[in-house]
Amino acid sequence: MISRIAVIGAGTMGAGIAQVAAIAGATVRVADERSGAVSNALSRIRTTLDGTVSRAKTTADAADAAFARISAAVDVDAAVDGAELVIEAIVEDLATKQALFAAMDALTPASTILATNTSSLSVSRIAAATTRPSRVVGMHFFNPVHIMQLVEIVVHPQTDLAIVPDLTEFVGALNKTAIVVRDSPGFASSRLGVALGLEAMRMLEQGVASAADIDTAMMLGYGHPMGPLRVSDLIGLDVRLRIAESLWQELGAPHFEPPPILRQKVRAGELGKKTGRGFYEW
Ligand code: NAI
Repeated sequence: MISRIAVIGAGTMGAGIAQVAAIAGATVRVADERSGAVSNALSRIRTTLDGTVSRAKTTADAADAAFARISAAVDVDAAVDGAELVIEAIVEDLATKQALFAAMDALTPASTILATNTSSLSVSRIAAATTRPSRVVGMHFFNPVHIMQLVEIVVHPQTDLAIVPDLTEFVGALNKTAIVVRDSPGFASSRLGVALGLEAMRMLEQGVASAADIDTAMMLGYGHPMGPLRVSDLIGLDVRLRIAESLWQELGAPHFEPPPILRQKVRAGELGKKTGRGFYEW
């Protein structure tokens, strides 16, 4: 089993990934270019672990042992040293990710698997910055990492599929389920989730039903835990609009064209839960 990992980027996702990997027994080195980011991440991880102990989901000993398996690395060079798998969770910018992957390619043996947690960029284009595209994949975790059970393993045309079983096993050890998705805009989850959300918005616009009733249709009619409009509010309508625009542009499918109601809400600063108002009052 993969047991030595590095996480580059100690933000929301990097901290979550480091935490779940350490709980699964892996040793984890974390690096970030911003000073103080890793120590902040470590204290957030400590708080989350303490929460699991107080809710009796973990023992104090297990939480302490997991925490002890995570260490701060002074830089990327130190983080990736000896790692079997590196998971990148830095800013969502293609050129920045490509520069990091080129650097990591030079720093690690050819056997090291380099994974990106990108939610929207082409894994193939990130892999192209290295001399080992066959060992570059997407590992798309969901926020909050310690709760969400899905990981999309994103393979591109050059990925050596022989690495997929090891990654699937690793994801299983994190108590999560891996699905394998071909590198394509929105992967599986965003593409389907955004399509549903946008159609729900169009139905609201056309007066088919109220927001609450559209959501209830999916919850009670299809067993979704939450309706698509409430999910959109939680994710943030600005985030949804940005993803819809990029899927519309890349896939050229008319059902990804953002409906006017979404643009209006974003223009009005009604971004969902984070601003107190979206399709719902929060
Ligand atoms: P964040 O902004 O919380 O953290 C990013 C961290 O990366 C920051 O601490 C920053 O200092 C660091 N960083 C930036 N450039 C760096 C570099 N060149 N080298 C080292 N560290 C660098 O971002 P977040 O939300 O954790 O997202 C990270 C990645 O995960 C992005 O690709 C994002 O699209 C993806 N993602 C985010 C999700 C979310 O809900 N936040 C869900 C799934 C994927």
